[in-house]
This record gives sequence, C-alpha cells and structure tokens, in this order.
Amino acid sequence: MSVLEIRGLRVAFAAPRRSVRERRTTVQAVDGVDLDVGARETVALVGESGSGKSTVARCVLGLVTPQGGGISFEGRPLGPIGKRSPELHRAVQMVFQDPGSSLNPRMTVGAIVREAWRVHPSVAPAGDQRAALARVLSDVGLDAGVADRRPSALSGGQKQRVSIARALALRPRLLVCDEAVSALDVSVQSQILRLLVDLRDEHDLSVLFITHDLAVVRQIADRVAVMHRGVLVEDTSAEQLFTAPQHPYTRGLLRAAHDLEGVA
Ligand SMILES: Nc1ncnc2c1ncn2[C@@H]1O[C@H](COP(=O)(O)OP(=O)(O)O)[C@@H](O)[C@H]1O
Ligand SMILES: [Mg+2]
Repeated sequence: MSVLEIRGLRVAFAAPRRSVRERRTTVQAVDGVDLDVGARETVALVGESGSGKSTVARCVLGLVTPQGGGISFEGRPLGPIGKRSPELHRAVQMVFQDPGSSLNPRMTVGAIVREAWRVHPSVAPAGDQRAALARVLSDVGLDAGVADRRPSALSGGQKQRVSIARALALRPRLLVCDEAVSALDVSVQSQILRLLVDLRDEHDLSVLFITHDLAVVRQIADRVAVMHRGVLVEDTSAEQLFTAPQHPYTRGLLRAAHDLEGVA
C-alpha cells in the first residue's frame, strides 16, 4: 500500500492582472495529478519552474486546499493543516529550499528542536532533553555543540541539516523536500542527498523530493514523476527515466541537463 496517495489533484489560482480592465482569468497550477509514494520510497517530482511542483507539495502539507481530487496518507484523508490531528500533522514534515528563512534567527539550534517537541509533546523525550537533542543532531551529522549556536553562525549545509533535524525530531513518516538542496553548492548538495538516503533507510521514511535538477534526481530517487504545466507527463523508475524516457518533454529535460553538464 502507498503511504501517500494523490488522486485527481486540481488547483487553480487567480492569474495576476496587468490592469483592472483586464479580464479575470485563472492559472490551472495543478491539473489532475495522480501520484503515489510507497513505504521507504523516494519519489522525485521534477519539472521546470512554474510547472506546479510546489503547489502539489503545499497541498500535501495542507497549506493549499485543492479544488478537486484528494490526498490520503496511510489510508486517511489529508485535509487542510488546521484540521489535521496532531498525529497527522507530525507524521508529514517538510524541508524547504531556504533554511535561512525557515529557521528562527533568534533561537539557538537546541531551542529550535525543543520548540518542535513542545508543539508535539507525544514525541518529546521525557525528562532531560539534552541526550535526545545530541542524538538528533548526530543523526544529521552535527556535533552536540551546535545546539548552542544560532543559525547565522552556521554554513548553508549545516543550516539545512538543522532543518532536517527539526523534522526528524518529530519522527515523521513522510518527508516532503521542496528544492531542499537547490540553494547549496554541488559538493554540499551531495552530502545532504547522501544524508537523506541514509535517514530514509534508518528511520523508515518515505520521501517526496521536489527538484528542477535532474542531476539531483539521479542521486536520490527510486521513482520519478515529471510534471509539465500542471500535468504529470511521466511516472517511472529512475533507471527507466535516464535510459529510456518516454515523453518528448522528458527527453527535452534530459537533453537540456546534458547540455548544461557539457558547459560546466
Ligand atoms: N499563491 C499563488 N497565487 C497565484 N498563483 C500561484 C500561487 N502559487 C503558485 N502560483 C502559480 O501556479 C503555477 C505553479 O507554481 P508552482 O507550484 O510554484 O510551480 P513550481 O514549484 O513547479 O515552480 C505558476 O504559474 C505560479 O505562478
Ligand atoms: Mg517550486
């Protein structure tokens, strides 16, 4: 059974108008998407900017309410964030692109993780939290000493490890990563991707990994769903995608990635 099941998902937004006289139109950001993520599976959702990837992620997180279709998690419907049980809220965690803006600059790393436990007491360690904190940090490859530092004192890669630690501290079963390594240097990207692969295995996580970058897909994905203008045009194994892409749009993406590698 799939951990995450997305069926017929549709989201439209009001299109920006250049003048008040212009007719109101809508942008169909997501136009009937079906997508599954299995247990301990990493599914990459790829596509160029504006194809609707983040909107899918935001629906999974309950931050956007779709006009059509539905999402279920372990067989239970995933509604808007405000209506989720604490348990569902906790089980689905997100890692954003820019750890700089998703981590509170006034809090130490330790306080950031403890805050997550305060909001979700069901998974907070009993008694002294120091040992548990050190363990969570060590899980993401950080020294216990990082707990006393603020995000501004950390590198981009370290900050993203803290974001992952905060998510992991809640013992999620599904991690949604939206362009989670896109702001990092290539070598740091690889370290974070390896970390995510290890964590997935150790913590039995399912991962929905959103990226526009096919080089990243190659490093992390078991399966790949390709999105183009709100529609999934291909959903296949990572191996198949790179060796025998079916859809012309996917072939175009692969060619473009290949050309970029040639230039770099
Ligand atoms: N909150 C919003 N209001 C209006 N339009 C939006 C909003 N969010 C996304 N869109 C539009 O929906 C489409 C898909 O956007 P998005 O899901 O962010 O794509 P991606 O993550 O693949 O770059 C784009 O045309 C974008 O401009
Ligand atoms: Mg996006």
